[in-house]
Amino acid sequence: MEATAVTVRVPATSANLGAGFDCLGLALDLFASITVTFSDCEQPPTEDVGEKMVLTAIRQTFLRLNQPGPVGVRARYNVAIPLGRGLGASAVARVAGALAANEIAGRPLDEDACLAIASDLEGHGDNACPAMFGGLQVCVSAGEGRYLHAPFTHPAGVQMAILVPDHSMATKDARKVLPDSYGKPDVIHNVGRAALFVAAMNAGRLDLLDEATQDRVHQPQRAALFPPMFDIFAAAKRAGAHAAWLSGAGSSIAAICPEDVARPAASAMLEELQHAGMSGRSMVTRIAKDGATVSKVELVEA
Ligand code: HSE
Repeated sequence: MEATAVTVRVPATSANLGAGFDCLGLALDLFASITVTFSDCEQPPTEDVGEKMVLTAIRQTFLRLNQPGPVGVRARYNVAIPLGRGLGASAVARVAGALAANEIAGRPLDEDACLAIASDLEGHGDNACPAMFGGLQVCVSAGEGRYLHAPFTHPAGVQMAILVPDHSMATKDARKVLPDSYGKPDVIHNVGRAALFVAAMNAGRLDLLDEATQDRVHQPQRAALFPPMFDIFAAAKRAGAHAAWLSGAGSSIAAICPEDVARPAASAMLEELQHAGMSGRSMVTRIAKDGATVSKVELVEA
């Protein structure tokens, strides 16, 4: 085959949004660009965790197509979204792998089939779906590799303050602390608030977001892994944020803010983290309207 480079631009994401465990997510205006090179030259194995995830997603896609994958595949990142920080880095890699493989195969799969490959590898679609389609998304597994999803809107004038601690929280470990079953009051509490989050955003009722992000299913349990978490939420809200939540399985914390409040909220979260003896960095960004995009270049030799 001609050597071909496929570049996939994919946004970082924040999942759960408080009470919407494993089903709500949003895309951040923080994009990684991953260039996957396909050729006939065998490549040495990689030690890079992100690249391995891209290559696994490529293999899964070719398996799904019942086609042998290309022999020589490399994936290079130009913006690294850190792994294990709850910003959807694994979804970025898996969406990029599925889309790149589909592109090189001549686009036999639609976007939903690529989403399913990435979400199956993730175990849930709450990061992969906004990474693929952008914006705010509800995504649920309907079994047998089917993911049903729908976007929802947000009012103008909101920004995201994101605290990215230096310590990581592996999703696997952050899921191990969750119980196997929940009591009826906790289920009722969360179902209502996840629904309220979507309705509040659609209605522009940002005043409802604090209550809508109150969660009983994963955040209280995960606070054992990150003790200052609730104090950091409180610091963001004292600075004027509408609401704050643990981004995905952590360790990042996301706060949704009025525009003029995002910087002070980002700075207040960092100060609270440091007050707890931990380090990290803060940033301000927007909810990204766009999801993943693909471009292809054939490399021509003399
Ligand atoms: N919904 C997932 C979790 C996101 O919270 O475990 C992380 O992959």
